[in-house]
Amino acid sequence: MIRRYLTEVVLDEASPYYDVVIIGAGVSGLYLAAGLPRHYKALVLSKDSLSVCNSQLAQGGVALTLNGELSGHIEDTLAAGAYVNDLRVVKAMISESESVLSRLIVYGVDFDKNEGNELNMTMEGGHKKRRIVHSRDTTGMALMEALIRQVEDRENLDVLEHAFAVDLISDDYGILGVSYWMNGEMHCVASNTVVLATGGIGGWFSRTTNAPVVTGDGLAMALRAGVPLRDAAYIQYHPTAFKLKAGGYFLISEAVRGEGGFLINSDGKRFMKGLHPLMELAPRDVVAKAIHDQMCAGSKVFVDVRHLSAGFFETRFPNIHKVCVENGIDPRVTPIPVEPVEHYHMGGVMADSVGSTAIKGLFVTGETAGTGFHGANRLASNSLLECMALSERILRTLDVEAPKRRILANYKASPKTNASSGQAGISKFALCEIFDSALPLVKHSEVLEAALKKIKASFDEIEEAPLSEPKAFEVYNGLQVAKALILDALTIKTSIGSFVIE
Ligand code: SIN
Repeated sequence: MIRRYLTEVVLDEASPYYDVVIIGAGVSGLYLAAGLPRHYKALVLSKDSLSVCNSQLAQGGVALTLNGELSGHIEDTLAAGAYVNDLRVVKAMISESESVLSRLIVYGVDFDKNEGNELNMTMEGGHKKRRIVHSRDTTGMALMEALIRQVEDRENLDVLEHAFAVDLISDDYGILGVSYWMNGEMHCVASNTVVLATGGIGGWFSRTTNAPVVTGDGLAMALRAGVPLRDAAYIQYHPTAFKLKAGGYFLISEAVRGEGGFLINSDGKRFMKGLHPLMELAPRDVVAKAIHDQMCAGSKVFVDVRHLSAGFFETRFPNIHKVCVENGIDPRVTPIPVEPVEHYHMGGVMADSVGSTAIKGLFVTGETAGTGFHGANRLASNSLLECMALSERILRTLDVEAPKRRILANYKASPKTNASSGQAGISKFALCEIFDSALPLVKHSEVLEAALKKIKASFDEIEEAPLSEPKAFEVYNGLQVAKALILDALTIKTSIGSFVIE
């Protein structure tokens, strides 16, 4: 049985109170924090140092529609998502493009411009026109730098690094606060407005573009508080990741194909010809599966940029060029070997188009949110748009409803047992193996069933042992997330979008 709280939680009149608590400090969390009115006192909890997050690694850019003609962007989002997106949410997110860009320009984000000083829009998979603003090939870094500058300046914000949020504290009337672990001890803060912005789940996969710190903690916290996930089984594999000498994977942005890069196999053939009218720029699920099929047939796959004009690649993609060269590949003379790896979770904590959840006062934004924006496969660069569009919409909601502290006498709850400190009943390594084997690009129901059995056995082992330190919290969260994803995957009998079952 899944417990409600991982540790004892206590709230009373002496507990610190914040108007808003934001859990997570990637682009979605910091955009929200930076946009809060200055009379809001807010706490931001960052699991690691600021800038250790997925947002920092984002390359391609932010998909935006700036001319008011939303229909093209909407249609591309739906087509990529296999038309199971929530149309109302898709319209709402894309409609925020202008507000998001205006705020980023005020914050001084250094977007690439053309000779006429207009934003230089790039192209990525699934888009039928250029609509992605970017800062060379390190857009995430540029956004994070600007947002960190903003939050550092704000007296109304307390930002805590290495603060591991453990539980959402709630009663039948709504959210009451958050418990977190920092400097070896647990703390509880009171707040009637809490925003989950903890990112996705990629840290559980050995082959991923994600930062290891991203382990679905927000999803598990929401599940324990009784908020369900939406689209839990929809996980996106990015088609083109480059294996680093030191281990791990580095993204070769889709923008490389958007700017003319080809995909070739070991025979030098452009195998996407005939598979999709957009060829290398087909939606990500189509390209990832085509590469997977090439690899299953014994071929290697490469991103080839040798035909691009001299000087273009290293100027437009300086970071990708540098990392490739450091790892023994000069893309100007040698095609870059690539393979599909886990990249993004379309599923998330069930929320509406303003990030509101089933618990009053609990909001969710960015990759943690399950709003139906992405359907069964996210359109390229709609993730950074979602991070900021949804935070923008939450900010607007908060503006109207200035938070008032809900009268609370005392709240105390603990796990059923008071036995001494316990560990989660499975090692982190073994749990990673479960994610890798049960949730690869192509899934099999018998493997999903077997993984579910292992997860249930682990839960049985840890039921009575209270948890006391971050590794154990993380593993417990991971078990909960794996269970939710696998249960959902077992209900889907035919392939759709990024969800492939054989
Ligand atoms: C990329 O640059 O290919 C990734 C962008 C995204 O995840 O949308």
